Amino acid sequence: MIYAEILAGGKGTRMGNTELPKQFLMLGDKPIFIHTVEQFMLNRRIDKILICCPEAWISYTKDTLKKYIADRTKIVVVKGGASRNDTIMNGLSFIENEYGLNDDDIVLTHDAVRPFLTQRIIDDNIDGAIKYGAVDTVVEAFDTIVHSTNGETIADIPVRSEMFQGQTPQSFNLPLLKNFLASLSEDEKNILTDACKALVIKGTPVHLVRGEVYNMKITTQHDLKVANGLVEGQKI
Ligand code: CTP
Repeated sequence: MIYAEILAGGKGTRMGNTELPKQFLMLGDKPIFIHTVEQFMLNRRIDKILICCPEAWISYTKDTLKKYIADRTKIVVVKGGASRNDTIMNGLSFIENEYGLNDDDIVLTHDAVRPFLTQRIIDDNIDGAIKYGAVDTVVEAFDTIVHSTNGETIADIPVRSEMFQGQTPQSFNLPLLKNFLASLSEDEKNILTDACKALVIKGTPVHLVRGEVYNMKITTQHDLKVANGLVEGQKI
């Protein structure tokens, strides 16, 4: 089975004071996370779409899905967790309990607040996860990356052509990811907040899939304005 796990369990604090967590804010004529769900709905290779949201927002999420998506047979709403990794784990446990685990299951984990992913990115993630077991979506870094350990002086300026910016999806062979996350101690979980980083540090290779510059994450009010501009542009 191929699962999409849409991570919608955050609070969106960097968005400032908003009525709703940012994943539920409107982008054009529908909420941000609905755009994201629609992209996964369009891909016929995806068997199930999990939306992992804060427990207090489960009924709101279900009601919103009813309003915007007619055929919800592939969709399930699941409780998120305190950290992004906990949200991923909750989704994986739900899959195991509900559908069982198969050696060749694949999971695409994707930020609910990256609504502009494409079918090409989804397909490349599925193919990459099948072939390599773990893939991360990236774009080349355009700006020079400056590394500083204290925020005051430069420790290093890495070679730009070797630098990439991480996006999502991050996609995995499901049993590999589940066993790996379960093996991390609480301390490791707090430090290794990115599943791909954690795998790499522990010696598992993670391959790259090319993203798109516009596969942006909506983090701040400014990002939401840019995203609305992109949606307006798509109408032309
Ligand atoms: N996320 C999640 N569970 C968490 C924390 C984050 O599923 N416990 C999800 C968010 O909902 C978002 C994605 O991970 O779709 C990317 O995280 P980020 O942009 O950092 O979202 P928030 O944690 O909501 O934002 P902030 O850090 O500003 O509070």
